[in-house]
Amino acid sequence: MSSHDRNATPPEVARVFVHTFGCQMNVYDSERMLQVLTESSGRTRYEATKDPSQADVILINTCSVREKPFVKVRHTVGRYAQLRKARPSLVIGVMGCVAAQEGERLLEREPAPDLVVGPDHVARLPELLEKIRERRRPIVQSDELSVDGYAFVPGRPLANQGIFAMVTAMKGCDNFCTYCIVPYVRGREVSKPMAEVVAEVERFLGAGAREIMLLGQNVNRFGLDLPDGDDFPTLIRRVGRLPGLERLRFTTSHPKDCSDELIACFGEVPSLCEYFHLPFQSGSDAILSRMRRGYDRARYLDRATRLRERCPDIHLSADVIVGFPGETDADFEQTMDVLDRVRFGSLFSFKYSPRPGTAALRFGDDVPPDVKSRRLQVLQDFQATVTEEVLKEHEGREVQVLIEGPSRSSRKEGVFQVMGRTRSNFIVNFAPGQEQSPDALTGRLAHVRIDRALGHSLAGSLLDVEAQGK
Ligand code: 5AD
Ligand code: SF4
Repeated sequence: MSSHDRNATPPEVARVFVHTFGCQMNVYDSERMLQVLTESSGRTRYEATKDPSQADVILINTCSVREKPFVKVRHTVGRYAQLRKARPSLVIGVMGCVAAQEGERLLEREPAPDLVVGPDHVARLPELLEKIRERRRPIVQSDELSVDGYAFVPGRPLANQGIFAMVTAMKGCDNFCTYCIVPYVRGREVSKPMAEVVAEVERFLGAGAREIMLLGQNVNRFGLDLPDGDDFPTLIRRVGRLPGLERLRFTTSHPKDCSDELIACFGEVPSLCEYFHLPFQSGSDAILSRMRRGYDRARYLDRATRLRERCPDIHLSADVIVGFPGETDADFEQTMDVLDRVRFGSLFSFKYSPRPGTAALRFGDDVPPDVKSRRLQVLQDFQATVTEEVLKEHEGREVQVLIEGPSRSSRKEGVFQVMGRTRSNFIVNFAPGQEQSPDALTGRLAHVRIDRALGHSLAGSLLDVEAQGK
């Protein structure tokens, strides 16, 4: 076919469905996959679809941080491969961390995916898909985790972007906590130049976003690899005052890199929300040291105290692991003690699970499963009580809520309610008021009086809402 003939052919339309597992980094990457495909100007024109049975391309963005990820991916590929019966040309891609970790091995069992692409190759998706559609043989691009030549895909709003946007400030991790696979699948720390982060945030704000989440595996270390001396607090101060930005959040932080300077940003940068996710992983110094976390319980408790001093209403949340190799009852009690002292508003708790290639493998996995389960249960029961108490403290208060849309539970009961979040990241449900439809309220800020604390959320009454088109 000559290039003239090719130009004369109208572009073929292919619908893309992305199934995302895992963290916000993966959600961000999935958005970039849709972005590079819908923006590409090759022979195929890509459109996003929310219905996998209508898709010509299904991309599974995988997570390998915990629990049998390999089995889960194979199961998901198997499920989508059923759709090939009705649509033989369907292309299935495995993306993300399991792709980086497993590579070729993902092709060994039937049904196999057509494409295996790690997190650093998203920009090449249009070209790789084109090759597959031409030649129908699998492509694996998972092995090179090189810093050289790595480029961030500059994030741009998607068609239905809405009021939230995530923006990556840095990627990768240099910490090598002994239980964690992330440094192996996501590579070394690389920051996006500050000007690019700012430009990206501005693009999302220009498209109507009001809340921005700055992302990085270890986002507090933003800028330390850049030549111009910018660091994370500088970024927060710079992004935090961009016109149109109502709420700024960031994740994930590390207690050893959470500086006084960063803590000082709370209360100083008006858009910076009173929510801080600061994983502590364990309350025992012996375990923290074997996890190679680079801080002790005193340092963690000090960070929490300073955050509270600076910002009394801050919602602190954390990740914690139970059953790390060698964890005794006494170590676990130390973890419980941190929960008791800090009183987290919410907590993400996990049983230790050995990950391939990580340093903790040499310790064995010696805490029996039933002990892990029991510790997790004790911890979660305790946390449920604390969360309830923290939520109860909101009763009678007036809070600012950014409305996200119709509430999930209310649709079940047939009563119209809307849901939104406080600046401190608690969910609030309330009736939209007489003449307000839930859709018209989406994306607007409201004043809400909290009437009742429920198990994991708050129920309130609308006091007033800002005018539309703000
Ligand atoms: N086992 C259990 N939990 C883990 N996490 C990371 N690696 C493991 C593992 N091997 C948890 C940590 C981390 C969160 C994202 O997942 O708590 O902060
Ligand atoms: Fe994993 Fe530790 Fe890096 Fe977090 S800081 S991604 S837990 S290695």
